[in-house]
Amino acid sequence: MWAFNVTNVHEKIKVLRQNADFALKQTIRTVVSIIPARDAQVLEFKAHPPKKGFSTKEGQARMLHDLASIELQAMELGIRTLSEFPEVPQEFKEELWKITLSESEHLEMCLTEIEALGFKWGDWPVNCGLWQSVSPEDSILDRVLIVHRYLEGSGLDAGDSLLKRLGGVDAVGVQKAVKIINTEEIGHVLFGTNWYINFCKAEKLDPTHDFAWRMDKLRAVLPRRINPINHDLRKQSGFTPEEIQYLENLRMSFLEKDSVWKKKNS
Ligand SMILES: [Fe+2]
Ligand SMILES: [Fe+2]
Repeated sequence: MWAFNVTNVHEKIKVLRQNADFALKQTIRTVVSIIPARDAQVLEFKAHPPKKGFSTKEGQARMLHDLASIELQAMELGIRTLSEFPEVPQEFKEELWKITLSESEHLEMCLTEIEALGFKWGDWPVNCGLWQSVSPEDSILDRVLIVHRYLEGSGLDAGDSLLKRLGGVDAVGVQKAVKIINTEEIGHVLFGTNWYINFCKAEKLDPTHDFAWRMDKLRAVLPRRINPINHDLRKQSGFTPEEIQYLENLRMSFLEKDSVWKKKNS
């Protein structure tokens, strides 16, 4: 597969941008389950080295490196959805293609800031947790819910927490990049909400009931997210009060599991 097999991160961005025609016009369903090529070490999150605080340049660069890894996977997931769901409406493809390009810009922004701080891509290991949250067996409703409403939606909550933490340190370039990314991500999540509703309607499903049902079905495979839910950003990206409550309960169940685990192991 073209963009997945390109190893160098800068080359990957270039190849992606040259392939709009492929992404928008290809009609053959290509099932992608391999982990895409990386020019950084891929390690399970638990095996990553400890992080430094944001008051150090290394701590800031490491945070941007984690963010770059998220943007890279978001970019690849965009192409993956286009490859695995050739039957979706052209309008969906065009909007998703724009989002995929926007992820490539976010990735580039992170790489530039990492270098401005004196570090480079590959200085730390990465993981492919986002990529591994989806499956070739997903329906388009599963995929939109997982990628755009759950993963990118959780990214909004996390980005806001990040901005608050960065507020107290001298890191103008880093703050600017994170702020731009988080503002643009609202549109990505809104894309997910709008198309989630459209696909529900097309299948004669009630989105209000489907959200809880589908999240219950998928929650075992979703990565744990425990950042406080940002109600304002969630509302801006189309979440209903019932959906936000569901996410609050899910977060609480993750936190409870953590505290039971800690008690058992203390
Ligand atoms: Fe992004
Ligand atoms: Fe995004």
